[in-house]
Amino acid sequence: MVVVWIIAGLVALVFVWLALAKLLARVFPFPMPHRVSFILESWPRRITMPARTTLNRMGLAPGMVAVEVGPGTGYFTFEVAKRLKPGGRLVCVDVQPQMIERIREKIAHYGADNIETYVASAEKLPLEDSGADFLFLISVLGEVKEESAVLTEAYRVLKPAGVLSVSEFLPDPHYRTKSEVRRLASGAGFEPVSVKGNFFVYTANFRKPENSERITHR
Ligand SMILES: C[S@@+](CC[C@H](N)C(=O)[O-])C[C@H]1O[C@@H](n2cnc3c(N)ncnc32)[C@H](O)[C@@H]1O
Repeated sequence: MVVVWIIAGLVALVFVWLALAKLLARVFPFPMPHRVSFILESWPRRITMPARTTLNRMGLAPGMVAVEVGPGTGYFTFEVAKRLKPGGRLVCVDVQPQMIERIREKIAHYGADNIETYVASAEKLPLEDSGADFLFLISVLGEVKEESAVLTEAYRVLKPAGVLSVSEFLPDPHYRTKSEVRRLASGAGFEPVSVKGNFFVYTANFRKPENSERITHR
């Protein structure tokens, strides 16, 4: 009986947090302030969202041209760049110059040679049409002002059969549920491929249709 009450309490807590988070995101509709970005690489996050587990769910492969939208401090960036070798490269785009600066410092420190960085918005990526094999957002989608515009932009820069990967993590106040992400992705023209993980931490992968030349959003 006690166990049932504990579970019910936890479920209620999750729903209260989700409701509160939606309200917070509406009242403060801006990206995670760079001053609190230490949270992104803190030990509780490393335990609850290990980079390796998330990346294993995404399906990156050597030789790919990948785009990371909203890399923050680069918690995933350097492991992704390694997985794209040999021959692949990673393009990182973040709207906050302080986040990109942090990644540039790390590039200089680690000597990574297959990462490009841009300060730009996800709604207007500094990339050509149909040039990328893979585009991913981790704990980013709920932070952007125009979520559907971002996915439409992802569609533009991906090659036909290119993969869009969205990962979410629940304590994030901008968390989006699997069904919200599925709805947004299909609205932008993507086909579902896989969803891995659980309610709290998951990765949803989608594909731009192979015959997508005929579908245009511009
Ligand atoms: C919560 S952090 C996540 C960082 C990283 N993906 C991670 O999971 O550790 C969200 C990041 O998305 C960036 N961001 C928010 N809105 C954006 C936009 N419209 N365009 C590009 N980046 C954006 C923020 O600046 C921030 O670095």
